Parts: sequence; C-alpha cells; structure tokens
Amino acid sequence: MGKTHSDPVLNLEVNGVSRRVQVAADEPLALVLRNRLGLTGVKVGCGLEQCGSCAVLVDGESTLTCMRPAADFEGRRIETVEGLGTPAAPGPVQQALIDERAAQCGYCTPGIVVAVTALLRKDPHPDESAIRAALTPHLCRCGAHPGVLRAARALAGAARR
Ligand code: FES
Ligand code: FES
Repeated sequence: MGKTHSDPVLNLEVNGVSRRVQVAADEPLALVLRNRLGLTGVKVGCGLEQCGSCAVLVDGESTLTCMRPAADFEGRRIETVEGLGTPAAPGPVQQALIDERAAQCGYCTPGIVVAVTALLRKDPHPDESAIRAALTPHLCRCGAHPGVLRAARALAGAARR
C-alpha cells in the first residue's frame, strides 16, 4: 500500500508510547502495527477475524485487528505482545507458556498471550470454562492447545495461592 498525499496521519498510543503514523485509507491496525511501527509480534493469519493471531489489547480487551481500520483506534490504549515481556524478561503469561512448552511454530502464540493476559487482568481466578471461552477464538494449526490450557490453568492456580 503506497502512501499518497491525502493519506491520514494518526496518533496511536502503543505500548505506552505515543506514535504518529501515516497510514493508507482504511489500512487495518494489524498492518500498521507490523509494517509501519515494526511490531511484528502482531501476526496476520486469516485476515478475516477468524483465527485470533492478530489480537492485541485495546483498553485492556483482547481485540482482533486484521480488518478494522487503524483510524478506529485513535485515543485507545493499544498493547501488543512486545509490551507484555521480552525474550530476556518474559511476562508471566509468556513464562507459563514457555514452562509448558506450549508453542511449536509460535505463530498463534502472541494472540494467545494477549487473550490470556486480558482474561487474567479481568479475573485472576478464571475457571476452566472461562479459560476455554477466552481461548476459543484462537486457532493453533500445530495443536499446541493442550499446553496452552495447562499454562492458563497454572496461572489461574498461581493466582489463587
Ligand atoms: S488474522 Fe485476524 S483473526 Fe486471523
Ligand atoms: S504453535 Fe504453531 S500455530 Fe500455534
């Protein structure tokens, strides 16, 4: 998507930093985050809001970003997986997934980190049905879901102690 003179300029708050970015008209937030802001932890799988890989936190809610224009997100608090930990210092959800070896190719993992983070922020003690409901939109072609469920249960259990 090439820029034109009339392309909108947006102010987006991403991972606590205000970012000014020129985008193409109706450019989806996922592509803006990846291609213009370098946040490639945001994955685009289906591009049809059906796989969960493009989820980011928007005002704390897990939100799909592959279809909705970035302009919809001005003034909202956006957090990507890059804001939730680093390889050197993984966040608690990332660490739990590592501990349970809950990824193979890892393509679905950022969306899953976002979904579990949103769940635990709302409810540090989610039961099994709440965990499964939060993960339902997230497909994993590698079949890593058993490990993901173990990680989410461990986090829920740890929060109970
Ligand atoms: S890429 Fe957005 S839901 Fe699949
Ligand atoms: S680990 Fe490969 S798609 Fe989930």
